[in-house]
Amino acid sequence: MRPRRRWLVAPIGFAAGMVLVSQVSPTRQEGLSFAQYRARVEPIFIAPRGGHGPGMSPCATCHVSSGTPLRLQPLQEDGSGGVFWSEEQSRRNFDVVSRLVVPGQPERSRLLRKALAVQAGGAPFHVGGKFFESQADPEWQIMANWVRAAGTSPDPAAAETSPPPLDFEFFRTCVQQVFLNKRQGRMECVHCHGGGSRGFARTLPEGRAFWNLEESRRNFEVLRRYVDPGYPLSSRFLTHPLAPEAGGDHFHSGGRRWFSRDDPEWQMLAAWVRGEASTCLSY
Ligand code: HEC
Ligand code: HEC
Repeated sequence: MRPRRRWLVAPIGFAAGMVLVSQVSPTRQEGLSFAQYRARVEPIFIAPRGGHGPGMSPCATCHVSSGTPLRLQPLQEDGSGGVFWSEEQSRRNFDVVSRLVVPGQPERSRLLRKALAVQAGGAPFHVGGKFFESQADPEWQIMANWVRAAGTSPDPAAAETSPPPLDFEFFRTCVQQVFLNKRQGRMECVHCHGGGSRGFARTLPEGRAFWNLEESRRNFEVLRRYVDPGYPLSSRFLTHPLAPEAGGDHFHSGGRRWFSRDDPEWQMLAAWVRGEASTCLSY
């Protein structure tokens, strides 16, 4: 085991001040081994990486109690400068981490893609930087083996199938209505996602009630970043505004729109993400 240092305990500032209620997800995915997670995967999150900042700090520096989807438990100190998580805390971490993977498919798992270099198949960006240059990285392999071992039907052909395309036409005519549609006591997406890096529901020009083709395309390009085609539960579009009790993310400044995955609107959007033909709800 590598030495672990004390400074790790202090999370860096950007997420400080957010008070989050700890909650254990009821939707932990089947097949993932807790024992293997605790022994092999979790140590990766606290391993020192020889520096500070993106690509160099231990994952836990930023991911302990932060507002990111990978929200780990606060670390404890063992009296000699080392840090650890109790078994109960590890179980909570396990619940959180499990939701960031697609059992059996490391390449499609957010946990594995986020810190992996783009040219090696990683996600386009990670505020925390890139830690793994290639999939051959030993730590990456440890995580990948854990995820792979959970595959229910090890069907390599299925794993390689390219994800279903996202239907732009359905997005334009139907999904965008969700951004505008009122629900009692809730604010519509368009009020907060009208611009900037999360602007998938651009502010409508004066006098217009819906987006034109060009604007729809731009909305689509932004929203795609929050969609993992084929996988509603790893698509932040569908998990961010979904209540944690129903399998959603722990935190969304914009609050919740869906309190159950049986909500017809959520179902409709999930079908779209899965690439299935979906019928538009009439509002
Ligand atoms: C310097 C701070 C920092 C470090 C260090 C860091 N991260 Fe992150 N990470 C973030 C932030 C901020 C976000 C949320 C914004 C984003 O998606 O980039 C994030 C998001 C993530 C997500 C969620 C992705 C998603 O789409 O839901 C995963 C998974 C993740 N990081 C994994 C890791 C791993 C694994 C490590 C260590 C090898 C690590 N991070 C190190 C700051 C950091
Ligand atoms: C009151 C303002 C507000 C409303 C309303 C709102 N959001 Fe958000 N949303 C935010 C803010 C602020 C963030 C970034 C911080 C966070 O993750 O909570 C965010 C983040 C997100 C993210 C994750 C973006 C990322 O960078 O990871 C998604 C997806 C999202 N919102 C979807 C929606 C959808 C869909 C709706 C409408 C059903 C909606 N939001 C309504 C304020 C809002």
